[in-house]
Amino acid sequence: MFVSDCLGLNALGHLTIGGRDTVELAQTYGTPLYVMDEDEIRQACQSYRESINKYYGGHGMVTYASKAFCCKAICKTVMEEGLGLDVVSLGELYTAQSVGFPAERIFFHGNNKTVEELCAALEYGVGQIVVDNVTELMILNELAISAKEKANILFRIKPGIDAHTHDFVRTGQIDSKFGLALETGEAMNAVKAALSMEGIRLKGLHCHIGSQIFDIEPFEHAAEVMLQFMADIKAQTGAELEVLDLGGGFGIKYLPDHDPVEYDRYMMQVSGTVKKTCEKTGLRMPFIVIEPGRSIVGPAGITLYTVGAVKEIPNIRTYVSVDGGMGDNPRYILYQSQYEAMVANKAGQPKTQSVTIAGKCCESGDLIGEGMQIQQVEPGDIIAVLATGAYNYSMSSNYNRIPKPPVVMLRGGKDRVVVKRETMEDIVRNDLL
Ligand code: LLP
Repeated sequence: MFVSDCLGLNALGHLTIGGRDTVELAQTYGTPLYVMDEDEIRQACQSYRESINKYYGGHGMVTYASKAFCCKAICKTVMEEGLGLDVVSLGELYTAQSVGFPAERIFFHGNNKTVEELCAALEYGVGQIVVDNVTELMILNELAISAKEKANILFRIKPGIDAHTHDFVRTGQIDSKFGLALETGEAMNAVKAALSMEGIRLKGLHCHIGSQIFDIEPFEHAAEVMLQFMADIKAQTGAELEVLDLGGGFGIKYLPDHDPVEYDRYMMQVSGTVKKTCEKTGLRMPFIVIEPGRSIVGPAGITLYTVGAVKEIPNIRTYVSVDGGMGDNPRYILYQSQYEAMVANKAGQPKTQSVTIAGKCCESGDLIGEGMQIQQVEPGDIIAVLATGAYNYSMSSNYNRIPKPPVVMLRGGKDRVVVKRETMEDIVRNDLL
């Protein structure tokens, strides 16, 4: 009935998450409020791990892409679940370090890492720096030599796959700011340069073809292209790389009719392709890494808002204004992302109204969604927007000087705040006169 397993309905007809009444949570913590179910997050981590172990016989690793949702608590949770961590900035690395995340399980991504970030990665002993370009390679080589170290790297490669998703979240095609191109010889030249560098240990390759992908074929195709390139590297240099990181991008159910691929089916099919391609090209099976972000945290989160004004414009539309908006969820204004919403305190009632849910920012485009089917709504109701666990808190802003909502985490039905609500003091914290 609901888009996520952690959601339900109680005897009062209220929406529940992790068995807890969302209306009560809204009363306790105020709105807007992010609520996440840690049990669902742990379940996703375990499903991925079991599945990768099943198909790669322990010769694989699941790495959580922390850009989807990063705070100390989630780093600690995925660390306890035995996953690796993908970070893309000093801020994400610092968060991981602050909970003692094992450095060897960290992957440092990014198309323009600063010298400060590279130094921090070397100092912490980050297991894999995913080098995006030759400029970065040369800087890293020098930094490693002067630190008397060898940096363990993967190269980010553009496999040239169009994964049929939204333009802004599509990253594997040739016209992309990320990675090295195969067609032009750029990637092979970088590999050859790296193999001769004193401060660099080239462990493998990485690709990431996009996000919110429902098909398995693009992933299989990417795996083939990457393995073929590994075979070319072996033929041309004699080097057989050990690691193949196939990135993230697995789609989740935002709307009832979305039909995401089960992790296990993905893993079965892609591992089959990997094995076949290795046999065909005469390569040893590399160590396989995958980097899911959205699919680990997305379904586990919801956002709760209180309804203010309801503005019915005859024959046009009904605006339902809530106490949050693009500051806590910029995904509609950025990508026209679709969400399911409901009136949490009337969740047992049929959805009879089609509305536009609007935020409170001074901007017409500040919408959570248009044509959203919800129950009859009135001021004071609690609106729940579902499956907001990924790329909501992590992309939130203080536009219009609106404080960011807190994140409440539920575990075994018990609630705790893992990110505090920002205060007015936080809003002016960095201001100087
Ligand atoms: N690995 C790399 C190198 C990535 O760039 C990403 C996402 C992931 C893994 C995780 O992808 P996921 O499994 O979460 O799809 N802000 C956009 C999504 C941008 C994704 C960026 N990279 C959104 O809200 O849809």
